[in-house]
Amino acid sequence: MDPNDARVILEEERSRGLELIRAADTLEELEVAKVVALGRKGRFAEVQRALGSFDHDDRRTLGMRANEVRDELQHAFDERREDLHRAGEDALLDADRVDVTLPGRRPRPGSLHPLAIVERRIVEVFTRMGYRVVEGPEIEDEWHNFEALNIPPDHPARTMKDSLYVDVPGLLLRTETSAAQIRTMESHDPPIHVVCPGRVFRQETPDATHLPVFHQVECLAVDEGISFADLKGTLEAFAHEMFGGDRRVRLNPDYFPFVEPGAQVAVSCFICDGVGCPTCGNGWIELLGAGMVHPKVLENCGYDSERYTGFAFGLGIERVAMIQYGVPDMRMFIEGDVRFLAQFQGAA
Ligand code: FA5
Repeated sequence: MDPNDARVILEEERSRGLELIRAADTLEELEVAKVVALGRKGRFAEVQRALGSFDHDDRRTLGMRANEVRDELQHAFDERREDLHRAGEDALLDADRVDVTLPGRRPRPGSLHPLAIVERRIVEVFTRMGYRVVEGPEIEDEWHNFEALNIPPDHPARTMKDSLYVDVPGLLLRTETSAAQIRTMESHDPPIHVVCPGRVFRQETPDATHLPVFHQVECLAVDEGISFADLKGTLEAFAHEMFGGDRRVRLNPDYFPFVEPGAQVAVSCFICDGVGCPTCGNGWIELLGAGMVHPKVLENCGYDSERYTGFAFGLGIERVAMIQYGVPDMRMFIEGDVRFLAQFQGAA
């Protein structure tokens, strides 16, 4: 190679190398630029290899220039690499940017389910009157759910249509909390004043006022001299305490095998106030079944029915919650829609 050519090549490689290095937009492109500018197969390396064949002066001046060019390219390369690193980090930081001035996202506080709130309120009304809370099993035997309650084998409630049986013969999901009456009387002597809240299960098609799994509170009072007047007074006290004085309470004669006489208790509808609407049908919302404990039931539990009398009632918690909160469709309680449920925050 001629020294003059070497001089020209050095300058050309310098400007080409600097241009390539500056134009590199990524670290990968920069590495390629460096290989092109300073790599062993490049023209710069060719010049370096040729230096040994030049005379002393040319070797000295061209050698010095070659060193300068290499240092300059290396320096440009280092700077560019630094810039690209920083740009990469900035981009990462940008992507991860946290705006510390934004208001924090508060975790939503949980709240009691409206049915739990209502159940607590009902139970509280009765415990204030002196009642004790008892619980019974959700899977019951036929004795406690039917026979002891004077529900004969041919009663419609015994058929598969209304009841949900489990795989074990003789056991079923309790159809009403009344089974707890029997368990209480079997294990305690009078006087008895208990309430039993709990889940009950029936074969039902869900609609605005019926669910297949719903909640009841059973109430039982047994002592000497308890009369229908005590039942009526207790129901009225409860209704006024729960719903206020402006809801009307209606007792209609009804039949339940385990009471005599029996009554169906309804309150005036909270939407139409007793006129009749799609929610209630006839102006009244059926709230509970009630009556005087049947002498046979008392005898089944070993009580002397000549000496003791009692009243019992079982109310539907969903129905009470509908009246309490003006909810037109019972299914809303079980849909799990947080927009609905969140409205009951702190409602206790
Ligand atoms: C009973 O379950 C009786 N054990 C009540 C009773 C107890 C009567 C003690 C006498 C003495 P009934 O099937 O009517 O009765 O249900 C009682 C209440 O539960 C109803 O008034 C209603 O408020 C509610 N209820 C009944 N069926 C459903 C249902 N499918 N979905 C939601 N609530 C219901």
